[in-house]
Amino acid sequence: MSKQIHLAAHFPGVNNTTVWSDPQAGSHIEFDSFKRFAQIAERGKFDFLFLAEGLRLREQNGRIYELDVVGRPDTFTILAALAAVTEHLGLTGTINSTFNEPYDVARQFASLDHLSGGRAAWNVVTSWDAFTGENFRRGGFLPQDQRYERARTFLQTAAELWDSWAPSDLLADPDSGQFVARADAGAYGHHDDHFDISGRFNVPSPPQGRPVIFQAGDSHDGREFAASSADAIFSRHGTLEDGKAFYEDVKGRLAKYGRRRDDLLILPAATFVLGDTDADAQEKAHEVRRQQVSGQTALRFLEQLWNRDLSHYDPDGPLPQEDPDLGEHTIARGRASVRRHDDILETARSWRAKAEAENLSIRELIIEVTARQNFIGSPQTIADTINDYVQQDASDGFILVPHITPEGLAPFVDQVVPLLQERGVFRTDYEGGTLRENLGLRPQTEQGIVRGVAS
Ligand SMILES: Cc1cc2nc3c(=O)[nH]c(=O)nc-3n(C[C@H](O)[C@H](O)[C@H](O)COP(=O)(O)O)c2cc1C
Repeated sequence: MSKQIHLAAHFPGVNNTTVWSDPQAGSHIEFDSFKRFAQIAERGKFDFLFLAEGLRLREQNGRIYELDVVGRPDTFTILAALAAVTEHLGLTGTINSTFNEPYDVARQFASLDHLSGGRAAWNVVTSWDAFTGENFRRGGFLPQDQRYERARTFLQTAAELWDSWAPSDLLADPDSGQFVARADAGAYGHHDDHFDISGRFNVPSPPQGRPVIFQAGDSHDGREFAASSADAIFSRHGTLEDGKAFYEDVKGRLAKYGRRRDDLLILPAATFVLGDTDADAQEKAHEVRRQQVSGQTALRFLEQLWNRDLSHYDPDGPLPQEDPDLGEHTIARGRASVRRHDDILETARSWRAKAEAENLSIRELIIEVTARQNFIGSPQTIADTINDYVQQDASDGFILVPHITPEGLAPFVDQVVPLLQERGVFRTDYEGGTLRENLGLRPQTEQGIVRGVAS
């Protein structure tokens, strides 16, 4: 039997795939955009809507980076509002475990789960950098291993808080006048190096027991964290070969935690460009890339690798002959992309060689090397490709990031979803009442994830 595909919608925003300058693009802060986006996803029977997190405005050359969408409103406020205008769609929020407190976050997700009737999910991230940390009382940052240690114990603490109430604890019996069935409902205590807290949790057991747990880090520690504790991974391994390798790696880590391969879903982010024909889609994709990478954007990208001010270069001219500055990275702050180049000199050399061989300008080169268009083609081609990837275990589905907000999702829902449904690999209606049921996941406690972590 074919695997069922899971689909989700990532509200576009602070990234260079989002084309805010297109006449069709809407606001990234008015509620109407979020509402329309969520309702399109729900019309397509998508599993959930996804929000990423960024808690500090990015900077480059000491100034706000103002070429992409700047600013984003608070996750819980948006998701709570969306709970009121949707019925089935899961609501996934990215919330970091480095700058927050477990009691607050557990309360917020338990509340969202109640308000939405069991549709809350938490993407537990450890966040990128000390630059963001400057916004918070704890200040500074934590080295990676300590961030994951804190993430583990943070999630454990949150799980203890959610589990401190059993569903049967809420009695509300008018005859006896008794509201709570058990005297110690909500009682908890957690004591370790990171959290030394005790008391009573004041939100009764959420409909899902615990929200669905996502994880997004990519290192060995991040993957182990996912294998021991998460229900799904938001990954960036969206191509066929890379996706298969990542899938195999992470699913292979589950057995040692006593978990089954289908206890953890792998859902890469993916972009798409649809056309009437494959050729038409290729043409559109080229146009979208030009919209995504202006001359100024290309220079900013190049500066992130070169680690120096290149504003005097002509984006329509050749690449710099000078080498990147290998000293401490100072040019871009709060941007994720700078961390992805392992060997900076080698990357610069290969970019120069490519530009020379293909006679590419700075802008043309950046358009090519930063291309992140996963699926390009007619509805038929895209439906076939997505299905092929899922059946070949490159993923369990995709978190789609349209480039136009909010209407960019509609063509996919109207043209690709029906083809997946015809092939019997995507639902024609929601199976269950909760997100966990729609994702086909067992409750965490049934998987042996007792205190937020399986062992
Ligand atoms: C696909 C992906 C998405 C991420 N999304 C976010 C995010 O929205 N907000 C955030 O603060 N960190 C995000 N992170 C950062 C991770 O939480 C983590 O801090 C970072 O990846 C470093 O850990 P690693 O070395 O295990 O990857 C993301 C990471 C990945 C791989």
